[in-house]
Amino acid sequence: MDKILSGSGLTFPAMGIGCWSYGGGNYWGLQAQSDVDEVVGTALDNGINFFDTAAGYNEGRSEESLGIALKSRRQEAVIGTKTGDVNPQTLSQQLESSLRRLQTDYVDLYMVHWPNPKYPADELFESLMQIKRAGKVRAIGVCNFGVKQLSEGLVVNDQIEINQLCYNLLSRAIEVEIMPLCKQNKIGILAYMPLLQGILADRFQRVEDIPPQQSRFRHFRPNREMSIHRESGAETKMWDTIEQIRHICRDENQPMSRLSIAWVMAKSAVSCVLVGTRNVDELTENLKAVNYVISPELEQKLDKVTLGLRDQMGSNADYFWATRTH
Ligand SMILES: NC(=O)c1ccc[n+]([C@@H]2O[C@H](COP(=O)([O-])OP(=O)(O)OC[C@H]3O[C@@H](n4cnc5c(N)ncnc54)[C@H](OP(=O)(O)O)[C@@H]3O)[C@@H](O)[C@H]2O)c1
Repeated sequence: MDKILSGSGLTFPAMGIGCWSYGGGNYWGLQAQSDVDEVVGTALDNGINFFDTAAGYNEGRSEESLGIALKSRRQEAVIGTKTGDVNPQTLSQQLESSLRRLQTDYVDLYMVHWPNPKYPADELFESLMQIKRAGKVRAIGVCNFGVKQLSEGLVVNDQIEINQLCYNLLSRAIEVEIMPLCKQNKIGILAYMPLLQGILADRFQRVEDIPPQQSRFRHFRPNREMSIHRESGAETKMWDTIEQIRHICRDENQPMSRLSIAWVMAKSAVSCVLVGTRNVDELTENLKAVNYVISPELEQKLDKVTLGLRDQMGSNADYFWATRTH
């Protein structure tokens, strides 16, 4: 069922399309525009109309690629984009650049990509309100804001409608404090990385097989090749948890990707689950997750086998650096 934000009235489908790979780049490799066109068209045809991008994704090429794919169907889409440069003085220029790349004159949801202590919350949110008042943005959101950062933001602006956060079976930190605060303040959650970038798509038979790109998260030890955190990680516990999830999926005769997406979707505080969808085969499978209704018993089973990892990893929702979300 679509979820509606109380402030702007913006409506989200259960699943949104994560567009980080669009335009291609070092992180995700090549991404054909023809695949993007096909995913975007098929998603819209199936009622999936939310697309999540960012100015920072592939140096603006993700926005450009999405703009090309949506060109004749802009009015059907709900576009979320983000700015990484939150200098209040240049924010409106950042937005103009995004609008140009997206070939549109408004963005449905404009988000701050990561908290940045350099700029005072009151100036930042006043600049965001200015662009909203100018009609260029329908709703304002943040990403990766912890309890302290969200509380500071809410003091100066009660119009924050979204907090976009990492949330999946192996990354449940937000449940401890952030999710209850969002619920209390009627802030919708856009859940990103529901597949932990493919790890929850049952791709790897051994923990050592997980490539550097996906093993830089805080779940892994810090001497992994692309690691950017300094914590000890929780590799053994994580792998044991994956084995238990795999077991449940086999019993249910369902692919791990489907149950992983459906589990996030079942959580009432989540407005929309963002899945990085690179081609129409992935979309076709992920649409099955949208239509799959997870039973309360199965949801609880998955809750139970992943709780130990959540307890071991704690309430820090920054799974990349460990230091940015407070
Ligand atoms: N605000 C933030 O700070 C932030 C951070 C991260 C992500 N995000 C947003 O959230 C979106 C989703 O996160 P994500 O893309 O990083 O991770 P994800 O959705 O957990 O995983 C995406 C990857 O999973 C694979 N995949 C997708 N569907 C699959 C299926 N049915 N079966 C098997 N594999 C499948 C694809 O791998 P292949 O590459 O092999 O095709 C895809 O690249 C992003 O695109 C972005 O929009 C936001």
